[in-house]
Amino acid sequence: MIPYGKQCIDENDIRAVVEVLKSDWLTTGPMVQVFEDGVLNLVGSRYAVAVCNGTAALHCAMYAIGVGPGDEVILPPMTFAATANAVIYQGGTPIFSDVEEDTLLIDPEKIEKKITSKTKAIIAVDYAGQPCDYQRLQKLAKKHNLILIADGCHALGAEYKGKRVGSIADLTVFSFHPVKHITTGEGGMITTDNEIYANRMRQFRNHGITSDFRTREKEATFLYEMTDIGYNYRLSDIHSALGVSQLQKLPFFIKKRREIAHRYQDAFFASSVIQSLKVNPDSRHAWHLYVIKLVERDRTVIFRKLREKGIGVNVHYLPVYRHPYYEEKFNSSENRCEAVERVYEKLLSLPIFPSMTDDMVSTVIREVLCACE
Ligand SMILES: Cc1ncc(COP(=O)(O)O)c(C=O)c1O
Repeated sequence: MIPYGKQCIDENDIRAVVEVLKSDWLTTGPMVQVFEDGVLNLVGSRYAVAVCNGTAALHCAMYAIGVGPGDEVILPPMTFAATANAVIYQGGTPIFSDVEEDTLLIDPEKIEKKITSKTKAIIAVDYAGQPCDYQRLQKLAKKHNLILIADGCHALGAEYKGKRVGSIADLTVFSFHPVKHITTGEGGMITTDNEIYANRMRQFRNHGITSDFRTREKEATFLYEMTDIGYNYRLSDIHSALGVSQLQKLPFFIKKRREIAHRYQDAFFASSVIQSLKVNPDSRHAWHLYVIKLVERDRTVIFRKLREKGIGVNVHYLPVYRHPYYEEKFNSSENRCEAVERVYEKLLSLPIFPSMTDDMVSTVIREVLCACE
């Protein structure tokens, strides 16, 4: 099976992890900050806070901005459930706003209708690795005094109008799950220019405690205080070392993803059945996913045919409001989004990952064309 996504680990990565295993610090050690500095230098933000996964990163962001009961947060339904779940973790209410049908990115035009006196923030999701229309989103956020969060879990290394994702929104969240651009096994990061948010998140990832073990060791004190409820969302030095090593290969990983995407674009350009998503000219897409829309074909039939041929196609995503939890808790089936509903049944994600060979790409193209004939 050619999977839809896969990590790319080499001997340098393994060596980096082994070195940490032989060191004094397996967690709360120096490697965490080295990884944080690597990411903040890459994206051009002032602060970066490493955590144990992208979901924890979203939760930290919700905590940092003070989301609580009674607050509403607007986000697109075309995302992984974790984006909305993080709002609920803090007692807030996710409000789903529709996407643009050709990019599947949140549609800034439709957001305004969803804004109420309870709205606190917007979470923009850089679906598939393409940055949202941040210029319009920032304008909207400013006009209504809202905080703009980027769920950049698909978009490490992507750019919008010459600026890296991670330095555009008030806070940006990344994931380092094995299918993402770089991996730490499990891992996440939040970048921001806001020192108060950064400090709040550092405390939140460590049980709400004001200092970590290493700081206390340095200061020769056993005293610590917990000033708010937090979690153990720390990323270990073992994970961080892998992240530092992986980060060096990010330009190569993105280049490979881009080459694969261009081959798919060319192969399906003339097809009336297979539509690729629109790429905005002022963005540099990071190609976490390659998503096609199937016109006048049964997606389930095509999905099964391709799986039988060893092509690990997938679907991103079941609209979040269609999950039974959301339907029951928020009666969200009554607030479905028109564009999402029109497009969801057509979506299929094709394999894309840096170690995909030219032959694998040719096989996927051939089988997809054949299945859709
Ligand atoms: C858009 C989006 N947000 C959040 C997450 C959560 O990240 P993690 O799996 O690292 O918790 C993912 C992961 O798949 C994602 O794709």
